[in-house]
Amino acid sequence: MSRLLTIVASSLMLFSTAAHAAFEPFQPLPAMPPIPSDNPQTSAKIELGKQLYFDKRLSATYTVSCNGCHNVMSAGDDGKAVSRGALGLKGTRSAPTLYNVAYQTVYFWDGRAASIEDAIKEHLVSPTEMGMKDKRAVVERLWNTADYPQRFADAFGKGVPLSYETIAQALASYIRTLRTPDSDFDRYLRGDKNAISKQAKRGFDEFIEVGCASCHFWVNLSGPVPGLAFQMGEGFYELFPNYPGTKDEARYQLADDIGRYYVTKDETDRRMWRVPVLRNVALTAPYFHNGQVKTLEEAIRVMGTTQLGKTLSREQLADIAAFLHTVSGRFPEQRFPKLPSN
Ligand code: HEC
Ligand code: HEC
Repeated sequence: MSRLLTIVASSLMLFSTAAHAAFEPFQPLPAMPPIPSDNPQTSAKIELGKQLYFDKRLSATYTVSCNGCHNVMSAGDDGKAVSRGALGLKGTRSAPTLYNVAYQTVYFWDGRAASIEDAIKEHLVSPTEMGMKDKRAVVERLWNTADYPQRFADAFGKGVPLSYETIAQALASYIRTLRTPDSDFDRYLRGDKNAISKQAKRGFDEFIEVGCASCHFWVNLSGPVPGLAFQMGEGFYELFPNYPGTKDEARYQLADDIGRYYVTKDETDRRMWRVPVLRNVALTAPYFHNGQVKTLEEAIRVMGTTQLGKTLSREQLADIAAFLHTVSGRFPEQRFPKLPSN
């Protein structure tokens, strides 16, 4: 057995013991996410990124901002199954929360973007999101706005201060500040035994025992974090539905979109999906890539049938939901920034 497999096997054995706090598979949110060496965090860049995030100028029709679909004043999503972009077109996948995505290794439901910067570069010119004609149109839009050229120069210094690259970098720097530490579950993991209720503790045990934790573990309950088993750009993918042909699959059209296959055209990627972030999941309904499931308990029940081939009891559903409520964290205060007037 390789050393890595031995480590994984021994931490899986820990799953069945009672000493949760000692678990490495579950960890409080680290204070800082990984920061790419070519895009260090600076306050000028973060402030600029925040302005861009709220600025509808980045959309083809001046009607949509990033915040329209990823509302940081609420839980970082828009509460819709799918959203309408600047050109009035709807996508086929649900807008995820951007809180804590900085701890992920790949982006989008199918992991097709290797960094936050790459995800943004795709989004700006995507017809179902910002809908801009091309990269040049995005850069020109900001060049022609009083204030932005100077702000980019202040944030990025010499070289090419205002470019497609630096627009994505500034936005990504702001997104890396969207973190929700100090959830009740984090405090529990740090040793405060009363931070979560008895029911939530039962739910945590069941989450491990029924098998949710085999996919949902580590910092974001979404698998490996950057730097440990995985590097940036390497994704943790699982089959969904893992048990095909259930009634739930048909009812919620869960297999119509075959996920990662569209990216790689590799047969083994058919129905493969990135394991998503579960932090704040109690606040980010509706659920799944197509946003078809409306409540958390129903999402848990469907995970039981589609991923584990199990019918969970009403008590188990309520307990696991109580546990998942404890991973809602402390949201950083957000105020609408002042935007350039013309
Ligand atoms: C019209 C709605 C809409 C708008 C506007 C929008 N997004 Fe998104 N965003 C989405 C959807 C839908 C996805 C998931 C797409 C997928 O997985 O295929 C997504 C995914 C992302 C992701 C990846 C998150 C993850 O968990 O992997 C990032 C980062 C992101 N958006 C940033 C932005 C930024 C920055 C802006 C503004 C420039 C923006 N978005 C504007 C709908 C939107
Ligand atoms: C075999 C791996 C696997 C197992 C086991 C598993 N999940 Fe998932 N989970 C996933 C994947 C992959 C997705 C994304 C599905 C999609 O594309 O819509 C997901 C999605 C979710 C979501 C929806 C997240 C969102 O933002 O829409 C919740 C909630 C969830 N899982 C909870 C659970 C619970 C609770 C269990 C145990 C009963 C469980 N999962 C078992 C892999 C797994």
